[in-house]
Amino acid sequence: MLAIIGGSGLYELAELADPIRMKRDTRWGDPSDSIVKGRIGRLPVLFLPRHAHGHKVPPHRINYRANLWALRDAGATEVVAVAAVGGIATDCPTGALVVPDQIIDYTSGRDATYFDGDDGNVMHVDFTEPYDPGLRDRLVASATRLQVPVVKAGVYGCTNGPRLETAAEIRRLQKDGCTVVGMTGMPEAVLARELGLRYACLAVVANAAAGTDVNQAEVSVEAIMASLARSMTTVQRVLAEMCRATVA
Ligand code: HPA
Repeated sequence: MLAIIGGSGLYELAELADPIRMKRDTRWGDPSDSIVKGRIGRLPVLFLPRHAHGHKVPPHRINYRANLWALRDAGATEVVAVAAVGGIATDCPTGALVVPDQIIDYTSGRDATYFDGDDGNVMHVDFTEPYDPGLRDRLVASATRLQVPVVKAGVYGCTNGPRLETAAEIRRLQKDGCTVVGMTGMPEAVLARELGLRYACLAVVANAAAGTDVNQAEVSVEAIMASLARSMTTVQRVLAEMCRATVA
């Protein structure tokens, strides 16, 4: 079953029919919010807003382990994670949709594994390709069918937040090869991998990353929110198209 994790600006799915709210707790604690189970077209879908309804949980306080665990518990086998990002590369301007193929983790202090060794077992997962290629292809194909421009690959640099980056930090990310920057991609992606869930990210560029737009002295959070509000209708259309294609 497909699960959709909503990011900043996406707290519910307009097309989710027959929604049932499921409150779940897990051995890792409580997820950000109730999971909503419903249908898009004929496809059963789970939805979880990463920051909770009303945007109450900041990126570094999200219980990523509980979120992914609860989704798998509810029957998820694959996860599309919608995420607001800042654009670094010139092909990722504000409003662009990007389906990253790689990620670099700059976070710290987050609970980033289910394999803490408490049971005496040491586990290492392969993470060469952090995103599922098949799920990425379905996202790209859905956007393309709707004639929604989409950047087919990119490198997501995940910072800790909640503050935005300095211009020098963005220059460093750029040198590292990052094309977009966000705060929630990790450990979400690796926890999905540890649970055996196929995982892909639909990144929505909400702003030019710090220092990349010569006309912008600072990054405005109001402008980010306004930009996301504009983009989310398109994001929901792409997700609905993907759901329809999944059962077609
Ligand atoms: N940096 C980090 N995370 C973000 C940004 C950004 O510029 N925009 C939206 N999420």
